[in-house]
Amino acid sequence: MLKVAVMVSGRGSNLEAILQRQREGVLGAEVSLVVSNYPDVKAVQIANDFGIEVFVCSDRKGNDRKEAQMEISNMLTARDVGLVVLAGYDRILTKEFVRHWQGRIINIHPSLLPAFGGTLHAQAEALKHGVKISGCTVHFVTEDVDAGPIIAQAAVPVFENDTVESLSDRILREEHRILPEAIRLFAQGRLTIQNGKVLIKG
Ligand code: GRF
Repeated sequence: MLKVAVMVSGRGSNLEAILQRQREGVLGAEVSLVVSNYPDVKAVQIANDFGIEVFVCSDRKGNDRKEAQMEISNMLTARDVGLVVLAGYDRILTKEFVRHWQGRIINIHPSLLPAFGGTLHAQAEALKHGVKISGCTVHFVTEDVDAGPIIAQAAVPVFENDTVESLSDRILREEHRILPEAIRLFAQGRLTIQNGKVLIKG
């Protein structure tokens, strides 16, 4: 079965949604490692609760990002990981890391890319621009931040009285649906890239 590593930095609600699907037996893959760049975040707690191995590797504060991510990459290889899932990982990955895992690394972003890419505040930006529809995107990770080939998207309405929180919650419910679904498709070998575009086989 495909081994998956999920990289996290915070709340871990996407991680939890993935692990729930795994528990229900419908993920079609096995999360064998959670990588966090912070030791005390909720996502690490969730991984522990589900009995998943956690690798904490800080790539901040004095620690060289390149070196730290090399360490992460080596750990992923040692654990025979076939798919890396970024689920709220708050650091830009080095080009070496991305190149090594290219085609085997996906990210979830809380907007309909290419709108509001490259920011950690996509929902606030959506409200600021007064868009009427927003959503989320699962995409392959490439060296261009939030600009890799799109795998799946889900749209949600934006209401006049929305706050960042209410919009984020609405988007998050869709994230929790499309990210595990993308993992399942990848595990089934149904995702291919042709001319920079993702094709999903029947
Ligand atoms: C999500 O909104 C995701 O789209 C973004 O970071 C957030 C992570 O949330 N990349 P959580 O940690 O999964 O709850």
